[in-house]
Amino acid sequence: MYIRPRRNRKTPAIRALISENTLSASDFIYPLFVHEGSEDQDIESMPGCKRWSLDGLLQEAGEAHALGIQAVVLFPAVGEKLKTPGAEESWNPDGLVPTAVRALKEAHPDLCVITDVALDPYNSDGHDGLVEEQADGSLEVLNDPTVLALCQQALCHAEAGADVVSPSDMMDGRVGAIRGELDDAGYQDVSILSYSAKYASAFYGPFRGALESAPKAGDKKTYQMDPANVREAIREVGLDEGEGADMIMVKPAGPYLDVISRVRETTVLPLAAYQVSGEYLMIESAAASGWVDGKAVALESLMGIKRAGADLILTYYAKRAAAWLK
Ligand code: PBG
Repeated sequence: MYIRPRRNRKTPAIRALISENTLSASDFIYPLFVHEGSEDQDIESMPGCKRWSLDGLLQEAGEAHALGIQAVVLFPAVGEKLKTPGAEESWNPDGLVPTAVRALKEAHPDLCVITDVALDPYNSDGHDGLVEEQADGSLEVLNDPTVLALCQQALCHAEAGADVVSPSDMMDGRVGAIRGELDDAGYQDVSILSYSAKYASAFYGPFRGALESAPKAGDKKTYQMDPANVREAIREVGLDEGEGADMIMVKPAGPYLDVISRVRETTVLPLAAYQVSGEYLMIESAAASGWVDGKAVALESLMGIKRAGADLILTYYAKRAAAWLK
């Protein structure tokens, strides 16, 4: 036997030399939930995550940054009273997100602050877009009026100092429209990270619990993608690239590694993947039951996403993983 692959695995040094992929803290984007309250709150549907107060947010982001995390993305838990059919709160300059962005940029100027652009946390219908009841009683999520609202939301985040805005709504044409809106207002340097291929996934359940943002009626299948499709992801990525996206995203990550890998071959843009709440909780709950080694499984799941072709990973493990990798 001349060929013995095990020679390349015989010591930790050789294994490190020939390792094809690495994980590091700067690969991670840390999703953080914020709320109006002055106390940090445990999230029932997402053990291990919190709805942060403003002070808690600054502290947590600072600790993550010190561990090498370069970016956070903010998700607001908006009070039920502020939710309207028109989602006007989403572009209130004194709202939760703009306030948090200003505070974060002041406390941690070098940390990249990303905001989520979509109407669901603000919309009394719980949809990512504006909802209109049709003559036959069915509900339609309107595309073009939603895009106008998203432009105002993105502009409001840019004015507050966001480095990157991240549309997660899956309306058609929103990347180009947001780019135009930002440029006209002088925010040429604010980047767009587009959720290009976002699937209509049951893995988002715990997140919707965290924000109490589940749709009141219907589902998201007329705008989020069918889990059966991969060619459609490539079409969406091509459109967003043409409309000026700086980075693109596939979401969820773990059950869609083939999509990440196919998209990787079709674009040279930086590619992010979102390890979503349901993926996180499957690992956490198995670990809490003592069925798996949570740290090892979490790191392996992240490496799998990296190996599939993602440059960046949005993950609730970001801070813990950064500490584990030290
Ligand atoms: C909504 C949004 C969702 C997530 C991020 N942004 C949920 C949804 O589309 O219903 C899910 C993230 C997660 O599950 O961790 N704009």
